[in-house]
Amino acid sequence: MTIEPAVKARRDAAAGQGSVIRSVIAGVGAYLPERQVTNHELAKTIDTSDEWIVERTGIRVRHVAAEGEFTSHLAVKASERALAAAGIGAGAIDLIVLATTTPDETFPATATRVQERLGLTRGVAFDVQAVCSGFIFALAVADNFLRLGQAETALVIGAETFSRILDWQDRSTCVLFGDGAGAVVLRAGQGKGTPADRGILTTRLHSDGRQHDLLYATGGVSSTKTAGVVRMDGRKVFKHAVEKLAGVVDESLASAGLTSADIDWVVPHQANRRIIDGVGKKLGLPPERVVVTVDHHANTSAASVPLALAEATADGRIKRNDVVVMEAMGGGFTWGAAVARM
Ligand code: ACO
Repeated sequence: MTIEPAVKARRDAAAGQGSVIRSVIAGVGAYLPERQVTNHELAKTIDTSDEWIVERTGIRVRHVAAEGEFTSHLAVKASERALAAAGIGAGAIDLIVLATTTPDETFPATATRVQERLGLTRGVAFDVQAVCSGFIFALAVADNFLRLGQAETALVIGAETFSRILDWQDRSTCVLFGDGAGAVVLRAGQGKGTPADRGILTTRLHSDGRQHDLLYATGGVSSTKTAGVVRMDGRKVFKHAVEKLAGVVDESLASAGLTSADIDWVVPHQANRRIIDGVGKKLGLPPERVVVTVDHHANTSAASVPLALAEATADGRIKRNDVVVMEAMGGGFTWGAAVARM
């Protein structure tokens, strides 16, 4: 197999200068569907209450996509905002990695719909499926493409219409989720291979297929020819989540050559306020350093981390050169973390 000349040139340029390629986060964007559904509204159709949901989860309201509003529509809007924040045109993108559990269609990949709507005629676009960890997995995939010199400017998207796979009669799951999309633009830059570099410093991913029965959908194309609905053993998922997320954050910090004292911001997966607090406590992090959006987004699966990142970037909390740790866990189980210097 021969190496494409442009790839070889990029790698040689980095090596010749004694440097490494780093995936720099150049822009972040997000989009939420207009319709908001409060806990009070849910309490009109199922046996629940605002008080129960807030106390057990921290969630007050979630956004729900309109009829005819698909995952790709949310993804395109988030991507356009990320591109605007990065100050670059869509034409610069040569890689799109989109994380979703709720694609528009069984095939083709929703990423190719996004590629077409952004007016792109070159590059590579594909989907990644790791449920709530999807964005971290997609970020790791894109980072590896950039660091190997196989792409220069990537759009990494987490987009979901999770409302479509909820059993709206199952109060133990339907109150937990929402719809939305977030995206980041990654640009290949140069670093010295130290924790002082700007860009993604490390990504760490894990899966454990033995935990399937704790969190899954009741259908699938190959088994039932339907999408199915979410089923979850919430209590058991909760326990695994705190332990695994704290573990992978520690692991990612060690891999990046940093300690928890170096963290400026943690952007956790927004599943449940109690999970977020539990992980923060285990890591000894001050709560004011943890970005929380679960109260107004609920759990948007693969979209949750980039949505939270976009919010904290747009409101000025996250600044250039800040060390940001992103983490997530989801069905499979899958879990992972990424450390980036903004
Ligand atoms: N409203 C009112 N009562 C409810 C509701 C509801 N929406 N849902 C469940 N209950 C009831 C149960 O039926 C049960 O009643 P019972 O005692 O009469 O049997 C009671 O509340 C307690 O149920 P538990 O499941 O034990 O409640 P728990 O405190 O564990 O909270 C929850 C449930 C919120 C799901 C919690 O376990 C949780 O957050 N788990 C994490 C799961 C998660 O976030 N998953 C997302 C995907 S994975 C991830 O992203 C990490």
